[in-house]
Amino acid sequence: MFRPLPTMLPITSVLALSTAVTAFVHPGALHTAQDFERINTHVANADEPWNTTWTLLTASSYAQASYQPTPQEIVYRGANGVDSENYQYLYRDAAAAYQLALRWKISNDTTFADAAVNILSSWAATLTSIGGTSDKFLASGLYGYEMANAAELMSDYSGWNSDNKTATGTMLANVFAPMNNLFLEDHNGQDYYHYWANWDLCNLASLIAIGIFTDNETMYKNAVNYVRTGPSNGALPVFAIANYTESGSSKILTQGQEAGRDQGHSTLDAVLLGVVAQQAYNQGDDLFAEYSNEILNAAEYIGKYNVGQDVPYTAYNSYQGNQTVISNNSRGTVRPGFELLSAHYGQLKGLDSSWTNAYRDWVNVNSTSGVEGGGGNYGTTSGGFDGLGFGTLLYRIS
Ligand SMILES: *[C@@H]1O[C@H](CO)[C@@H](O)[C@H](O)[C@H]1NC(C)=O
Ligand SMILES: *[C@@H]1O[C@H](CO)[C@@H](O)[C@H](O)[C@H]1NC(C)=O
Ligand SMILES: *[C@@H]1O[C@H](CO)[C@@H](O)[C@H](O)[C@H]1NC(C)=O
Ligand SMILES: *[C@@H]1O[C@H](CO)[C@@H](O)[C@H](O)[C@H]1NC(C)=O
Ligand SMILES: *[C@@H]1O[C@H](CO)[C@@H](O)[C@H](O)[C@H]1NC(C)=O
Ligand SMILES: *[C@@H]1O[C@H](CO)[C@@H](O)[C@H](O)[C@H]1NC(C)=O
Ligand SMILES: *[C@@H]1O[C@H](CO)[C@@H](O)[C@H](O)[C@H]1NC(C)=O
Ligand SMILES: *[C@@H]1O[C@H](CO)[C@@H](O)[C@H](O)[C@H]1NC(C)=O
Repeated sequence: MFRPLPTMLPITSVLALSTAVTAFVHPGALHTAQDFERINTHVANADEPWNTTWTLLTASSYAQASYQPTPQEIVYRGANGVDSENYQYLYRDAAAAYQLALRWKISNDTTFADAAVNILSSWAATLTSIGGTSDKFLASGLYGYEMANAAELMSDYSGWNSDNKTATGTMLANVFAPMNNLFLEDHNGQDYYHYWANWDLCNLASLIAIGIFTDNETMYKNAVNYVRTGPSNGALPVFAIANYTESGSSKILTQGQEAGRDQGHSTLDAVLLGVVAQQAYNQGDDLFAEYSNEILNAAEYIGKYNVGQDVPYTAYNSYQGNQTVISNNSRGTVRPGFELLSAHYGQLKGLDSSWTNAYRDWVNVNSTSGVEGGGGNYGTTSGGFDGLGFGTLLYRIS
């Protein structure tokens, strides 16, 4: 399951390995050390479009060493009539921790590393639980995967006090992961078809990332297996509602579970599927390839419809009723995340990802600087922070 260990290991890895038979690649959630060799070379050469994306990142208000976190003891998402929603502090700080971690990885300037670990450590010292309405399970999933990815990027920073690093792992394992597991098992007391796919997907992304950061092989494997064979809407076999062969190209377009709901959530599904698969890929599990490249086929369907082309549709009997036509609600919405899918399928695997690329380009020309931005570049509300972004810098190979 895991990639073979490199022969030369830094001292810290050797120590960590003494208790484990297998080991995770670190950093190894969304990004590996090998990725940063490619990224750093493009930045050093000021190659485009990497240089423009790097410039956008360095200008982000979330990527400044002066950034101060606002940790909360209890995060609330969903207006429950009692507590005020305060989850914006968590998604902003998660974006900042991630963006600052990237700045450190690419510049080697430890002022950014210190700012990133300060955000993570401050939350670890403060956060005790996540509440609100059922939406609390969106918070546990979305911000769980985002915080864990920031932490994983910092995992080899020697300036991160080891107690603070451990506390960050404890927060992820004790506050986020139990909610992720609970949601996937129990679905907030509802049946497997009640919650739309993105709910499962963000909680799966979170467990995979936390499993990697905390070296919890059970957590990681359970989540990867759930993606492969799980019983509910985010699992690959359930997510695919219908397959169509596109005339001309004869490629497969796969209608996903939220096509009849709206395009904001359909595009989010593709983005989260990309996160899930990229994280597992970096540990040697190629979910991208499974079910005949289902994630590509779904992204192609979503991409094609969202750049204004027609796609076939099969009625879907959702828990909110029979959806007999594809939803044009939010069609053409702009959110970051398709760079990852285009890079993996189109560039790395050499597959036909034309509609995925078209939507990637649509997002980029319709947002900022013609490249994929991140948190802060897509509005101030939560949707603009659901994907970590900056994919033009981070995933594009050539
Ligand atoms: C890098 O991109 C920025 C923003 O587009 C631009 O101002 C700058 O001139 C570029 N650097 C080089 C060396 O081309
Ligand atoms: C940062 O450090 C890495 C590893 O030592 C090196 O490859 C890279 O060139 C450095 N980057 C900068 C901008 O100094
Ligand atoms: C641990 O993290 C907190 C919050 O960033 C910080 O105030 C404290 O100085 C850190 N401890 C050490 C020993 O670095
Ligand atoms: C590892 O993950 C499993 C499955 O999610 C969980 O039951 C266990 O408590 C985790 N271990 C730690 C130390 O968090
Ligand atoms: C769609 O195609 C995939 C890959 O061949 C297959 O696993 C899946 O069962 C198909 N789904 C439907 C609904 O036909
Ligand atoms: C859903 O609607 C379609 C199209 O009207 C119809 O063919 C199908 O039987 C309906 N399914 C259910 C379960 O009502
Ligand atoms: C959006 O879909 C609705 C319902 O199918 C339809 O009535 C409407 O004409 C569509 N709007 C556009 C702009 O296609
Ligand atoms: C997005 O970009 C495409 C391609 O340039 C353009 O045709 C489309 O009108 C734009 N859509 C929006 C909503 O700006």
